[in-house]
Amino acid sequence: MEELVLLRPTAEYAKQIMECKKEYLAAGSSMDGCGSMRRTDDPMEYIEKCALEENPETCPDSLVPATQFMLVRKADNKVLGFLQVRHEFNDYLSKYGGHIGYSVRPSERRKGYAKAMLKMALPYCREIGLDRVLITCTDGNIGSEKTILANGGVYESTVHEPNEDEDLKRFWIEL
Ligand SMILES: CC(C)(COP(=O)(O)OP(=O)(O)OC[C@H]1O[C@@H](n2cnc3c(N)ncnc32)[C@H](O)[C@@H]1OP(=O)(O)O)[C@@H](O)C(=O)NCCC(=O)NCCS
Repeated sequence: MEELVLLRPTAEYAKQIMECKKEYLAAGSSMDGCGSMRRTDDPMEYIEKCALEENPETCPDSLVPATQFMLVRKADNKVLGFLQVRHEFNDYLSKYGGHIGYSVRPSERRKGYAKAMLKMALPYCREIGLDRVLITCTDGNIGSEKTILANGGVYESTVHEPNEDEDLKRFWIEL
């Protein structure tokens, strides 16, 4: 596979971030692991919010501190996907959301990037003091389930998420 890097969103990628958002919307795709992207059309506001949310001192009270990454292909500096690591749990995350959310931009799916992106994020999870991570996926999301299993995920249980009225499968990865 080509050389890939996980980077925090910065102004250099502002245009691409909005292109990705457009792609997700056009495909009717969820924006898992994209943080506040759905709620703003201003990439600089998004980038700023990501930075604020990472720092426990500036993270809004309604959220837990989280690190936002983008997967970037070095050869053409293209943003391929997004992944968010939550440093701790609130009640919702401990049951339904888990530590890590991710998505790959629709035009770059089925090329192994989700598997690669999750693999690259696990050492960071260890660095911030986690010794195991919870990842959840909708029952029937084969691509996500395979991504988790390929990275050592062990199935724990299935829970019903009331807001979306869907069953979620919970997996743990030991770090
Ligand atoms: C789920 C998602 C992240 C997968 O990304 P991806 O880059 O296409 O995944 P990969 O190419 O790394 O594929 C991982 C595995 O899943 C399989 N896969 C991927 N998408 C699939 C699909 N739609 N149907 C069946 N299998 C699929 C791949 O063939 C691969 O299988 P393998 O291990 O046997 O080779 C992507 O479809 C996405 O962003 N979906 C919307 C957001 C989402 O569901 N996020 C996860 C929330 S838990």
